[in-house]
Amino acid sequence: MAREFIVPGEIISGSGALDMAEGALKLLGKKALIVTDKVMIDLGNCAKVEKALTNQGIEYSIYSDICGEPTDTMIEKGLQIYKDENCDFLVALGGGSPIDSMKAIGSLVVNGGSISDYMGKVIDVKMPPMAAIPTTAGTGSEATQFTIITDTKKDIKMLLKGKVLMPDLAIIDPQFTMTAPPKITAATGLDALCHCVEAYTSRKAQILSDTFAVSAVKRIFKYLPVAYKDGKNEEARVQMSVAALEAGIAFNNASVTIIHGMSRPIGALFHVAHGLSNAMLLKECLTFALPGAYDRFGALGRDIGVADATDSDQEAAEKFLKAVEALVNELDTPTLEQFGINKEEFFNVIDKMAHDAMDSGSPQNTMRDVTEEEVKEIYRKLW
Ligand SMILES: NC(=O)c1ccc[n+]([C@@H]2O[C@H](COP(=O)([O-])OP(=O)(O)OC[C@H]3O[C@@H](n4cnc5c(N)ncnc54)[C@H](O)[C@@H]3O)[C@@H](O)[C@H]2O)c1
Ligand SMILES: [Fe+2]
Repeated sequence: MAREFIVPGEIISGSGALDMAEGALKLLGKKALIVTDKVMIDLGNCAKVEKALTNQGIEYSIYSDICGEPTDTMIEKGLQIYKDENCDFLVALGGGSPIDSMKAIGSLVVNGGSISDYMGKVIDVKMPPMAAIPTTAGTGSEATQFTIITDTKKDIKMLLKGKVLMPDLAIIDPQFTMTAPPKITAATGLDALCHCVEAYTSRKAQILSDTFAVSAVKRIFKYLPVAYKDGKNEEARVQMSVAALEAGIAFNNASVTIIHGMSRPIGALFHVAHGLSNAMLLKECLTFALPGAYDRFGALGRDIGVADATDSDQEAAEKFLKAVEALVNELDTPTLEQFGINKEEFFNVIDKMAHDAMDSGSPQNTMRDVTEEEVKEIYRKLW
């Protein structure tokens, strides 16, 4: 069966990537809207991007009000600034939140309306050029055709998609991830792990996505603990920013599965950061998924070296799951309870969360049939 495989227009990666990308930025337009957050301004990261644009005689305005994960109202404000300032292209600097916001702003520039209008539809409107500079290793949003925006009226995280959302330019410069504190390194790194494991064990996996997924899984097991414990380790940061990109490419072309499907409702209702809610779900979701794909999980166990040819697929898969659990613990991932969520409040919304999770379509990509009742059961097992 023929399959499509989509990647960003151009990827510039490695130390010095921003310097090398200046010429490519110049080709995108005359005036950029930089979409970012206050942390990037305070750390001086935004100033580095401003300098790169100035070097090329590109004008810019800055929208730095992305705080937390993006909402429809943040997008409307950014859109207004883009129009008022007569910008003609977009640059996002930050984690997944500013990058997703950039995509949502871009999709409204020409066609207008509200971002919620695109829920459940494929976005195929004309977009201004976009460059993404990730500062977490991480969401892989720099290499995906997705954006996740919270609908504040309905309390749901909308997963919006369309090929036009794929950035034209991805600048993967590890200098920007060096400043990420351990908690963010852990949560975003485990988000990337979910992307590649889910992509590899998705019903929509394809040969090319497998290549990127396996490479990312191996890199993450080797380098995420190092980046977590020693944030200044440049080699670990470089390897993790490549892994996040690979994982993004993998799931962009193979979809995510049950972890992401169940994670978004927790994020929307309890304001748990995306990577963290994924991390909290990893063990129980993979325990559920394992019997549907012992061969695939087993292959990952052998790839990371915790199993070998003498193990059956099931044994190797179970060893892989144990290694995932050990990694989640090594990175000090809190439980829902330790995070401070009230058990009764959580149980009161399990029906809504299970419904929203199934409605997103992601759990159904798992290589084991899954029902809404089983999703509810997994939510209960988190306690
Ligand atoms: N579009 C996609 O394909 C996709 C995939 C996965 C997740 N997401 C979305 O991405 C968002 C989460 O993105 P994220 O996990 O990267 O976090 P984020 O962008 O929300 O950032 C989290 C925090 O880390 C800070 N931070 C980021 N980089 C830093 C750095 N280098 N140094 C110091 N602080 C830094 C930010 O300022 C922020 O306070 C969620 O909304 C999630 O749903 C999108
Ligand atoms: Fe994710």
